[in-house]
Amino acid sequence: MAGEKVNLTGAKETLLLTLYGKALESRLPNSLLRDYFADEAVRNIDYDFSRLKVDNNLGIGLAIRAKTLDVCVQDFLARNPDAIVLHLGCGLDTRIFRIDPPAGVDWFDVDYPEVIDLRRKLYPVRDHYHLIASSVTEPGWLNEVPRDRPAIVVAEGLTPYLGAEEGQQLFSRLVGHLSSGELVFRCL
Ligand SMILES: C[S@@+](CC[C@H](N)C(=O)[O-])C[C@H]1O[C@@H](n2cnc3c(N)ncnc32)[C@H](O)[C@@H]1O
Repeated sequence: MAGEKVNLTGAKETLLLTLYGKALESRLPNSLLRDYFADEAVRNIDYDFSRLKVDNNLGIGLAIRAKTLDVCVQDFLARNPDAIVLHLGCGLDTRIFRIDPPAGVDWFDVDYPEVIDLRRKLYPVRDHYHLIASSVTEPGWLNEVPRDRPAIVVAEGLTPYLGAEEGQQLFSRLVGHLSSGELVFRCL
């Protein structure tokens, strides 16, 4: 098998399950998500996805939750074309490519360094797109993020991996740093 070798463990490895589910759903003729970047990424990763036991039903569930958050982000960007997007625990999710935000928007994908390294290998660069290689629980990464623009913070499948205190501290830091915005997340 050719492709990018992946050696992720623990919470990081779970990104392969969500990526694969979205890729599978996108192969269906009536796909909701049409996540062709995810499908391409799966084809370029050297990993035995069959061991994850993901089927079309799970893929459809993952696609629905991803689409729900996509619509929230699109709605916010329609109201705030100069916004920033903070996508926390992004994994290999391709939300930026699905949404294709206008040029006035700056987008920040945040995840652990190993995950961000993998993103750099699999996905193209684009203007106004920033990758932050850090645990979201580290206080320093927010220094890279502008304070003075409307912000939407989106997190999909991240919060189960944060302890109660870590989660509270993260949300307090976000609220303290950003001047205005919205937070959308899926807890499971
Ligand atoms: C279930 S995956 C979801 C990935 C992506 N959001 C999606 O929906 O496809 C969980 C993600 O959260 C990330 N994660 C967990 N704890 C994190 C932390 N403290 N800082 C940054 N990312 C974290 C993992 O690396 C992984 O990419």
